Amino acid sequence: MQVAIIMGVGPDRGMGAQLCHRFAQNDLHIVVAGRTMSKLEQVANNIVAGGGSATPIVADTTSELDVANLFEQASRIGDLSLALYNAGNNTPGRIDEMSVEYFEEAWRVCCLGGFIFAREALKYMKPKEQGAILFTGASASLRGRANFGAFNSSKSALRGFAQALAKEYGINGIHVGHVVVDGAINGEKVLTRYPDIAEQLGQERLLQIESIVDAFEYLWKQPKSGWTFEVDVRTATEPW
Ligand SMILES: NC(=O)c1ccc[n+]([C@@H]2O[C@H](COP(=O)([O-])OP(=O)(O)OC[C@H]3O[C@@H](n4cnc5c(N)ncnc54)[C@H](OP(=O)(O)O)[C@@H]3O)[C@@H](O)[C@H]2O)c1
Repeated sequence: MQVAIIMGVGPDRGMGAQLCHRFAQNDLHIVVAGRTMSKLEQVANNIVAGGGSATPIVADTTSELDVANLFEQASRIGDLSLALYNAGNNTPGRIDEMSVEYFEEAWRVCCLGGFIFAREALKYMKPKEQGAILFTGASASLRGRANFGAFNSSKSALRGFAQALAKEYGINGIHVGHVVVDGAINGEKVLTRYPDIAEQLGQERLLQIESIVDAFEYLWKQPKSGWTFEVDVRTATEPW
């Protein structure tokens, strides 16, 4: 059995969950990973109800021990085909009012966690010379923006790390990819936490999760003879 570990899964209408559903349709066993068991169980149960197979596992991506246990448990299910790093924390705030702890926490989740996750994936993928490690990026991966100093710096650091990873392990048969999500997602987080922003943007300027998930599936399906490192996804109306 081929296995996908998807790290950073929350509500069913969020990106992480929808990534799980799409890769389950590709006959992968999905290891649904994140911080909150109730959310992970719901996603895994929905996959199973739809005829797929999935296992929910709680892991904090900033904990080396949690991530090592996660990969070890997944390796008992089957061969690792995909490791997808979706965890992220949008951390707004003005720089002159920002504590070191707040800045560091953004970096821990968006960047350090990506390193811990990828390093563990390499342990299982390198000996078999196969597998894909994919990362979720944001507009912040490409440019700094006022009031988002912590998030911008950690997401762009993750992108730089992903490039280094791609160049270092392509030769070992491991495909590394990064998807830039350039805009607000029409998903649980924006709709429930920032309904005013969702209303202000309207349907035309909200990114549909399906389109983003398509980009991940495209990267994962590429043969070794033609790999893409990065895909950016935005709506037709996004100013960029
Ligand atoms: N939402 C947007 O508009 C938007 C736009 C551009 C890019 N993105 C990127 O897209 C990705 C997904 O965002 P989303 O808003 O759609 O959320 P989501 O995929 O629905 O959920 C992400 C999940 O990551 C989990 N997570 C956070 N810190 C973690 C940690 N230390 N260890 C393990 N899991 C952790 C959270 O768990 P809990 O539920 O337990 O908190 C959350 O449920 C992120 O990388 C984000 O930066 C989002």
